[in-house]
Amino acid sequence: MRAAMAAPLACALPAWARAATPPADDESMARFIAGLPKAEFHVHLEGTLEAEMKFALAQRNGLSLPYATVEEMKRSYIYHDLPSFLKIYYDGMQVLLTEQDFYDLAYGYLSKAASQNVLYAEMFFDPQEHLKRGVPIEAVIGGITRARADAAKTIGIESQLILCFMRDLSAESAMEALDAALPHKDKLIGVGLDSDEKDNPPEKFAEHFAKARAAGLHVTMHCDVNQENTLEHIRTALVDLQAERIDHGGNIVQSPELMALAKSKGIPFTVCPTFSGKVMEDGHPINALREMLDAGLKVSVNSDDPAYMGSEYITEVLVRAQKDSALTPAELVRIERHAFETAWIPEAQRDGYLAKLEAYAQDWGVTA
Ligand code: ADE
Ligand code: ZN
Repeated sequence: MRAAMAAPLACALPAWARAATPPADDESMARFIAGLPKAEFHVHLEGTLEAEMKFALAQRNGLSLPYATVEEMKRSYIYHDLPSFLKIYYDGMQVLLTEQDFYDLAYGYLSKAASQNVLYAEMFFDPQEHLKRGVPIEAVIGGITRARADAAKTIGIESQLILCFMRDLSAESAMEALDAALPHKDKLIGVGLDSDEKDNPPEKFAEHFAKARAAGLHVTMHCDVNQENTLEHIRTALVDLQAERIDHGGNIVQSPELMALAKSKGIPFTVCPTFSGKVMEDGHPINALREMLDAGLKVSVNSDDPAYMGSEYITEVLVRAQKDSALTPAELVRIERHAFETAWIPEAQRDGYLAKLEAYAQDWGVTA
């Protein structure tokens, strides 16, 4: 909130007299990151379901949970790969049953994000998992949409919604979810692809992406880090399926050819350093975020499933990424510039966000 507090003084002083000092130590870097105008593109709403809310929803819905306390539940969040993470994540969302539950979930995330200066978010959700439990699509999309509208009105954060196909369920199940959602397509901005990638290549959903695109929706897809055939999956997503974005995609640094292709197409990558882990090459870790930035790829930094990742939301993720990848203040500004450029929004809205970002950078004396 530095920008808001500093504004009157900054306006009163001529430009030459302002103390525009780029952050130079951990404390000022943390303040710089906290106040940075941000956008988020890779956050699963069900992955923002905090243990506290799980207990509250279980009580409201008359369900019992296999844990006595919030602390005990959080201690159970131990995973070592994508499938073991997904088991915990899908178990957790069983408490989501009513329109109000989805409202509370989405409003909770949007409030948290707005408190961290996220101006705009595109959020994933997994309808198949809810339809399977008999929750109507109207409750899922309706609750989230009502929360988006209220959050825009009361706390000023704008957002949109991306329906994800769960790639480890059948193609038929994904088509059923798409068909159920299409009558509500005015409340969606795009479709994505998530869940367990093993033996579930992107082309399994070629028909679904084509149908969604024909309905006017954008297309993105997860290529999780260190998956089998990951480079093939990235190639299929970029070339055959014409994905407009890649979610994660860190292994692309192992293919100069694919990097050149992604760069020439201007494809954004939504990197989640907390979850993606390190890209491994010959048993050695590679810092994919650093390499992607250095290669000139369009990279944003995102929180993925913060409730299951130490409750680290975007500010904490950026603080950690800054240290791990030695990000300079100018690179942090570049990451958020990429983020706003990634957004599926009208140009006037984008220009407004970019102007706020550039003013903030200037305020801190950070030049590109
Ligand atoms: N579902 C929730 N988070 C995910 C991730 N990072 N990768 C694949 N599926 C997910
Ligand atoms: Zn994800």
